[in-house]
Amino acid sequence: MKYHIKNINLASEGYRRIDWANSKMPVLSLIGDRFRRKKVLKNRRIGCCLHVTTETANLVRILKAGGAHVYLCASNPLSTQDDVSAALAKDGIGVYAINGENRREYYFNMDQVLKAKPEILIDDGADLISTVHKKRTKGVLGATEETTTGVIRLKQMEQDKVLRFPIVAVNDSLTKHLFDNRYGTGQSTIDGILRATNVLISGSNFVVAGYGWCGRGLAMRARGMGANVIVTEVDPVKALEARMDGYNVMPMIDAAKVGDIFITVTGDIKVIRREHMLKMKDGAIIGNSGHFDVEIDKVVLKKLTRRQRSIRNFCEEYTLKSGKKLYLLSEGRLVNLAAAEGHPAMVMDMSFANQALAVEYILNNKKLKNVVCTLPVKIDESIAHLKLKSMGIKIDSLTPEQKHYLTSWKMGT
Ligand SMILES: NC(=O)c1ccc[n+]([C@@H]2O[C@H](COP(=O)([O-])OP(=O)(O)OC[C@H]3O[C@@H](n4cnc5c(N)ncnc54)[C@H](O)[C@@H]3O)[C@@H](O)[C@H]2O)c1
Repeated sequence: MKYHIKNINLASEGYRRIDWANSKMPVLSLIGDRFRRKKVLKNRRIGCCLHVTTETANLVRILKAGGAHVYLCASNPLSTQDDVSAALAKDGIGVYAINGENRREYYFNMDQVLKAKPEILIDDGADLISTVHKKRTKGVLGATEETTTGVIRLKQMEQDKVLRFPIVAVNDSLTKHLFDNRYGTGQSTIDGILRATNVLISGSNFVVAGYGWCGRGLAMRARGMGANVIVTEVDPVKALEARMDGYNVMPMIDAAKVGDIFITVTGDIKVIRREHMLKMKDGAIIGNSGHFDVEIDKVVLKKLTRRQRSIRNFCEEYTLKSGKKLYLLSEGRLVNLAAAEGHPAMVMDMSFANQALAVEYILNNKKLKNVVCTLPVKIDESIAHLKLKSMGIKIDSLTPEQKHYLTSWKMGT
């Protein structure tokens, strides 16, 4: 198998870290055992565009164990862990990913995956799927999508009637977004901020832009560390929820004046822009955990800047013409994956269990329409059951009388 990675000699470190992640991914391992025994993916060609992390490595490994030929490129130029790509390349995966690759290299690497003519795509952000559509590549039976931003793009493609194969929106499984987006992003975003800055969260004014699944998790964790959390929103219901959850809610223009740390997690564009940067305090830290690096207007930040220098890894100092200093984390790219390692394996266990089962679902259901669908509730629930079991947690089940009561309407007051 060909590959394009930084350094194959990093493989031994990669193996150790992949094994560590594997020990926290019992649900994926169980699915992997079945895939290996039954060779459910025998000779299938699978093209993945995912963050190249230790958790992804374990997903890729079980696909290969199931008999598939697997090709992998990065879903973000800064999130590739080079030791992981080395280990996967050594294990016969077609990896095309190097940390720090530029935009041209990013798409070159994606092209290498597409040259393998994959039948199933596993995407994170929909760059791979949209490229296949733009190039009119043939032979794809279906695809899965990992994240909120990707699902939004794909639903738009469905609406525009341009989708050429079915998509399973893995993000929309409850066992994905309730846990990965909330607890995964919550914890790993804080991890990224700390690794890039080592600032004290306690006592800070911590601004969270967007109170969706990721924003809820981040606000919860920042509060847990003693921050005064401020939420900005555009959705009145989410704004109300944030207020009733006990946070301050205000427009970004007001938050800009008081915030010490700003993190965007909206999936939207230019959430922090010129007028906000001009109002910010000297020393304010700005980062993003949304999928693309468009949430902070970097072009405007550069225009406002007199001097720029790197202060620490993933922390860039911008001295504005006024003399004020602002600090941008990981070039405005996902701070949890660039400055830290992404979500803990324990939560990716469920996300990637959904991915593995979604691939199998597409192959077993030849009549899926060219729309964005979700995995059946039964599969979602089976993942929750397995996760609970792996945690040693038992729950009650409905008695026959309860089942009857919950499906009838006759009994009232
Ligand atoms: N960092 C990670 O590892 C990670 C993990 C999962 C998802 N994501 C990405 O994070 C982003 C958010 O995902 P989510 O699942 O929380 O989505 P979501 O749809 O649940 O929440 C997004 C929220 O942002 C709000 N919003 C939109 N525009 C806004 C604006 N201008 N100002 C303030 N709020 C605004 C929306 O009203 C919504 O409540 C997406 O890009 C997603 O792909 C990142």
